[in-house]
Amino acid sequence: MKLKPVFIKNDTTLYHADCLNLMEELEEEHPDGLFDLIFADPPYFLSNGGISCHAGKMVSVNKGKWDESKGIEENHEFNLNWLGLCQNLLKPNGTICVSGTHHVIHSVGYAMQCLGMKILNSITWEKPNPPPNLSCRYFTHSTETILWAAKSVKSKHYFNYQLMKEHNDGKQMKTVWKMGIPSKIEKSFGKHPTQKPIELLERIILASTEENDMVFDPFAGSSTTGVASMRNKRKFIGCEKEQDFVDLSIKRLSNLKQQIGLRHEKGRNRRSQNGHWVNL
Ligand SMILES: C[S@@+](CC[C@H](N)C(=O)[O-])C[C@H]1O[C@@H](n2cnc3c(N)ncnc32)[C@H](O)[C@@H]1O
Repeated sequence: MKLKPVFIKNDTTLYHADCLNLMEELEEEHPDGLFDLIFADPPYFLSNGGISCHAGKMVSVNKGKWDESKGIEENHEFNLNWLGLCQNLLKPNGTICVSGTHHVIHSVGYAMQCLGMKILNSITWEKPNPPPNLSCRYFTHSTETILWAAKSVKSKHYFNYQLMKEHNDGKQMKTVWKMGIPSKIEKSFGKHPTQKPIELLERIILASTEENDMVFDPFAGSSTTGVASMRNKRKFIGCEKEQDFVDLSIKRLSNLKQQIGLRHEKGRNRRSQNGHWVNL
């Protein structure tokens, strides 16, 4: 491999790179696939001068250069490109979860179908306390979508049905997940503008992988996927392009023990009999 990791700790590895380059290199070394699960939270292409509300104040929605739209066709071309590389890197029975808002998720779903992936579920993450819509001309945006797909129609994907049922008071887990945005503790090492809650990543990982499975996140951001993988004994490879977010990721991944302690003390979670984290 020409690219060298910037962080390695046990089974957790982070690259500071463009994920397209990293995936091309990984594919050369692992032509039969490497990952059991890929979680991707790609650019949403929504940083185009809009406004939003944060802590009661009007703020720009701009998240950074990486999130600017290049136009519908170029955005879709980009989605096809990275999703195709992800597909090649999945093991035959591996699955991919992609999160996004309406700005990107329809292109992602269409690209998945064009690539011959098998869409397994469309999950809605519902945020109980979304910021109000300041323009009062739209419904309040309060959800994100997660598309869960298998590498191909032939894949025999893994789903931990029993555990999900246990986490849902003995009833089948549905596709609407009500979860808050990341807590202050999760942002104690710094902020990422689109950081996902650890709880969300833990549910995805516990539902679709087993211990020691390989998880990949091409758009790692603050490495929430890495934190959730470490907490649940999964192997992790992440990739992030921006130096600031690489630094934040390294802080989070190095201080995992402290984070587990803080989260546990807060009393939001407890370990169930089989050792997994469940909400109280
Ligand atoms: C939506 S955010 C991911 C946030 C992440 N899920 C978290 O919880 O922190 C997307 C990230 O992808 C990064 N990114 C954008 N294009 C990239 C590329 N081509 N290769 C690697 N990272 C990229 C951005 O810098 C940004 O941090």
